[in-house]
Amino acid sequence: MQEQVAGPPAAKVNNEPEQSFDLTVNDQKHTVVGTFDTPLLYVLRGELQLYGPRFGCGLAQCGACTVYVDGKPIRSCRMSVGRTVGHRITTLEGLSATYHGAGSNESAALHPVQQAWIDEQVPQCGSCQNGWIMYSAHLLSTVKQPTENQIRAALTGLKCRCGSQVAILRAVRRAAKTMGEA
Ligand code: FES
Ligand code: FES
Repeated sequence: MQEQVAGPPAAKVNNEPEQSFDLTVNDQKHTVVGTFDTPLLYVLRGELQLYGPRFGCGLAQCGACTVYVDGKPIRSCRMSVGRTVGHRITTLEGLSATYHGAGSNESAALHPVQQAWIDEQVPQCGSCQNGWIMYSAHLLSTVKQPTENQIRAALTGLKCRCGSQVAILRAVRRAAKTMGEA
């Protein structure tokens, strides 16, 4: 079987003229260049060097490219950059600040979900993990002590070809406990 490519293809995807877009990413302003329909993932990785979101399928099917737009998880491989102007984009690199606060002394600390991932030694190849972490953190920001069914439902649609799902469930439970005790 052919190995999946590690990064997205070149940013220009059609013959529309390129233009500038002002984006807010992880609470910082950036200007990027592309066509309206250039996938957000391409500019995050290709122009802003934010490598947390990964290119997995490019078809909104695996979740590896997940970022938040206005606090909600979306698949950045299928989101036009032009549609994100005026919205708040958060990548894995900005996840910790959503929990500790950007101005907090703890802003350099990991999000409890990231720490739980380390404690449970979840990643294998690692290529899918961004999506699981982003969706898990979103779940725990809205449901403090989720049931097993709620965790599984929140993570439906994410793919891990290494089979780390059992460790992921352990990590989400651990993070929920940590956040409940904070
Ligand atoms: S790369 Fe976006 S969902 Fe797979
Ligand atoms: S850890 Fe390898 S695909 Fe999930």
